[in-house]
Amino acid sequence: MSELRVEDLSVRFGGHLAVSSASLLVKGGQITGLIGPNGAGKTTTFNAICGVVSPSSGKVLLDGEDISRLRTYKRSRKGIGRTFQRLEVFSSLTVRENIQVGLEIRRSWAKGSGDLIQYLTDDQDLSPQAEVDLILNRLDLMPIADHSVSALPTGHARLVELGRALAARPSILLLDEPASGLDDSETDDFGDLLVTLAANGLGILLVEHDVALVMRVCTSLAVLDFGQIIANGSPEEVRANEAVLSAYLGSTPTSIAGTSAGATHDDVVAAEIGSSGQGFVS
Ligand SMILES: Nc1ncnc2c1ncn2[C@@H]1O[C@H](COP(=O)(O)OP(=O)(O)O)[C@@H](O)[C@H]1O
Ligand SMILES: [Mg+2]
Repeated sequence: MSELRVEDLSVRFGGHLAVSSASLLVKGGQITGLIGPNGAGKTTTFNAICGVVSPSSGKVLLDGEDISRLRTYKRSRKGIGRTFQRLEVFSSLTVRENIQVGLEIRRSWAKGSGDLIQYLTDDQDLSPQAEVDLILNRLDLMPIADHSVSALPTGHARLVELGRALAARPSILLLDEPASGLDDSETDDFGDLLVTLAANGLGILLVEHDVALVMRVCTSLAVLDFGQIIANGSPEEVRANEAVLSAYLGSTPTSIAGTSAGATHDDVVAAEIGSSGQGFVS
């Protein structure tokens, strides 16, 4: 199974160090959560892994190969897929056509490691059409397959974006707030889907604000704060980390628990951690 390593990654925007010596490990078959407050550097980390921004230092290694200097499309061909925080779909195309775009990306290049992974079926000999149908069915998009994406609610459009990414069969998939815009039941189904994909070998790096989802599906978590990884470990370990609580929320749960009138969003999250042990992301 594939393995993505980010080593001592730093990204600078002018005088602003958005990511500072961050190291991460994403393994095939596992879901790694990358959490942290808004502006912590999560999306910038994704962009550096994909080659959208150039790091000022550090390396990105895929299966031991240094891909730090490759252009974005070459990283994609090597098996790195992603979705975007600000949803990127081809709005003039139908749902089915969007998925086909992902398939074309894969078919246009020589077979790579991503091709070895079968997320949704063991059948190695599916026709392209059958594979698109499979993805449409698995994501419950078949009933709207011929609808224009421009007319879809956000929740559906996010699934289309996921489907397009899966059609390229990445070995490592980066998901930037994929449950945003999904309702509770859609989010539950989405979490189940991620678990199934990982169980079939996909490595997932998940940035997500939905605390319950992150805690339920992630194998391990890394916490970014002001561009630095301040904690790493299982969800339970990270949840119990006092340094994370104070750095993340600027206060410990016990000092905030009970706050109601005038509570900030962070206060509310901190109170949730204190009462239910579930909470971290802003
Ligand atoms: N293209 C850019 N140019 C300048 N600053 C940026 C750019 N992209 C992000 N930043 C800044 O880098 C920091 C990290 O942003 P981002 O990675 O989007 O955080 P997150 O995804 O964790 O919310 C923020 O301070 C943001 O304003
Ligand atoms: Mg972001």
